Amino acid sequence: MWDISETKIISNNTILKQLAMISYKELGLVNTRRMFSKAVDGGYAIPAFNFNNMEQLQAIVMAAVETKSPVILQVSKGARNYANQTLLRYMAEGAVEYAKELGCKAPEIVLHLDHGDSFELCKSCIDMGFSSVMIDGSALPYDENVALTRKVVDYAHQYDVTVEGELGVLAGVEEEVSSAESHYTKPEEVIDFVTKTGVDSLAISIGTSHGAYKFTPEQCTVDPKTGRLLPPPLAFDVLEAIEKKLPGFPIVLHGSSSVPQEEVDTINQYGGNMKAAVGIPEEQLRQAAKSAVCKINIDSDSRLAMTAAIRKALAEKPAEFDPRKYLTPARDSMKKLYMHKIVNVLGSNEKLQNA
Ligand code: G3H
Ligand code: 13P
Ligand code: ZN
Repeated sequence: MWDISETKIISNNTILKQLAMISYKELGLVNTRRMFSKAVDGGYAIPAFNFNNMEQLQAIVMAAVETKSPVILQVSKGARNYANQTLLRYMAEGAVEYAKELGCKAPEIVLHLDHGDSFELCKSCIDMGFSSVMIDGSALPYDENVALTRKVVDYAHQYDVTVEGELGVLAGVEEEVSSAESHYTKPEEVIDFVTKTGVDSLAISIGTSHGAYKFTPEQCTVDPKTGRLLPPPLAFDVLEAIEKKLPGFPIVLHGSSSVPQEEVDTINQYGGNMKAAVGIPEEQLRQAAKSAVCKINIDSDSRLAMTAAIRKALAEKPAEFDPRKYLTPARDSMKKLYMHKIVNVLGSNEKLQNA
């Protein structure tokens, strides 16, 4: 016979459980506060890698563990739509356990919302266990950006979740993030913005942009030795002016893929069509990582590495139809890329407290 009272209790508990917030601390994640202050002091930057699928996540975790690096796992609105927000959250929780299984005693992993565009989206991520969120009000009029960012900070800080804001506009066309032109951050605005909003870090615009086509050929010069396009340099004078206004304050660089030409060549060799793809030279990112820039966002380079490896594997073995056979070289290639970024560009290797 049904015990109706018990059924009620069970369903009430289920509802409560569904409504209950999850703290990122229960998931073994950390926020960015201590990570960033160590990075600014130590002259290195934390890698913020976007992920949308299991192979990317495996590659990121393996690379972070092998290099003993802290890492930020970034989820965009597009990633949430593609992979399902609940699944992504559990994948991040799984990433912490996986890192431990790989031998890392105390992984430092942040789960971060990339380019949050509304208070509701940020709140939903915070309630689900994200340890950090970005509220990107950079396309809004200044006062609206301040008000929206402040609202997110007030909510996030109640739960010790850190918040990244943005001033200045990056150019670039991607699924969820797009703008035709870039506008450098105005150094004269940063103190007011940081003070009024209470953000924990600030994304700035100094000439980087999203995607694999960061500059038009007209903006570039041609390297006489290689015939490759050389992009214009980043506005380091703007970065320096911002650092002077906000000494020691954590600065974030978006759009920091270097678009490795070997990957673009492999894609083109095996049936792709990526002409005039240009990224940020690694030397400039190395220079930025030594400054107050303490978080560097990389997504496109991982997409290129994955696509190049898959195209090559499928072209070389056209009869293959087991996805594991072409996703294994793709995962290996992404892992190599992430390790290279950590060790040779950002310098975040060997920075874990208790590796
Ligand atoms: O900054 C943008 C990230 O690369 C995410 O791109 O919106 O296509 O996922 P997405
Ligand atoms: P890239 O497109 O240069 O990889 O930039 C990614 C990014 O900024 C994510 O927020
Ligand atoms: Zn970005």
